[in-house]
Amino acid sequence: MDIDSIEQAIRERRTIRTLSNQAISMEDIDELLTSSSYAPYHSKEEPWEVIIVNAAQDRQLFVEKIMESYDRLNTWAHYDQQNLATAKKRTRDYFLAVPLTLIVTAPTHESEKMNLEAVGAVSAFIQNFQLAAWSKQIGVTWRTIPVIFDEKFKQAVGVTAERQIIGLLDISAIDETMKIPTSRRKSVDQWTAQLSDKIAEMSEGNE
Ligand SMILES: Cc1cc2nc3c(=O)[nH]c(=O)nc-3n(C[C@H](O)[C@H](O)[C@H](O)COP(=O)(O)O)c2cc1C
Repeated sequence: MDIDSIEQAIRERRTIRTLSNQAISMEDIDELLTSSSYAPYHSKEEPWEVIIVNAAQDRQLFVEKIMESYDRLNTWAHYDQQNLATAKKRTRDYFLAVPLTLIVTAPTHESEKMNLEAVGAVSAFIQNFQLAAWSKQIGVTWRTIPVIFDEKFKQAVGVTAERQIIGLLDISAIDETMKIPTSRRKSVDQWTAQLSDKIAEMSEGNE
């Protein structure tokens, strides 16, 4: 991937949901995590922590914990008997096939300000990771599946009660044959406004 500028990487990066079975080296992951940690943060300590799901045995356990959590959360309630087994198998097979997953967490704070700062910093860390990975032909899917809010799941994968999961990052090499998805954005004028116009619009709405 030829990337000449930060701006180009920001615009071209896409979420990659297609998996390849190419192994991801821990050297690459360590390097990407080191780069990610140059994200801005506003606390005494860097707020990010990462649990790595890489070894085959860890992956088996991780997938079991996801499936148990989905059962606990009644995720399958809307499936009829005929489709239930297929849906469960599809989910399990997907998570088993992901070459490497990172569980990225931030501390949970009661203070709204401190919580925002922790979530904001760890989100910046994740985006750094996605961009740096993209530059090395490594694809990432940032996932916020329901299990991340399940305290029993968190505990089962080693996340303490004082921390929140900001994302599960599914990581897989981008191979040449993969079709890179396209993604469009609204034009700037659709989500920007001058302060005075916004205030006028709000007061009109209140009339
Ligand atoms: C906070 C956050 C949570 C996300 N959770 C999921 C998820 O659970 N499953 C998924 O497939 N993609 C998830 N994504 C990826 C988005 O769907 C994706 O970024 C979006 O469609 C835009 O595509 P792009 O990343 O290729 O620009 C998440 C992204 C963010 C920022």
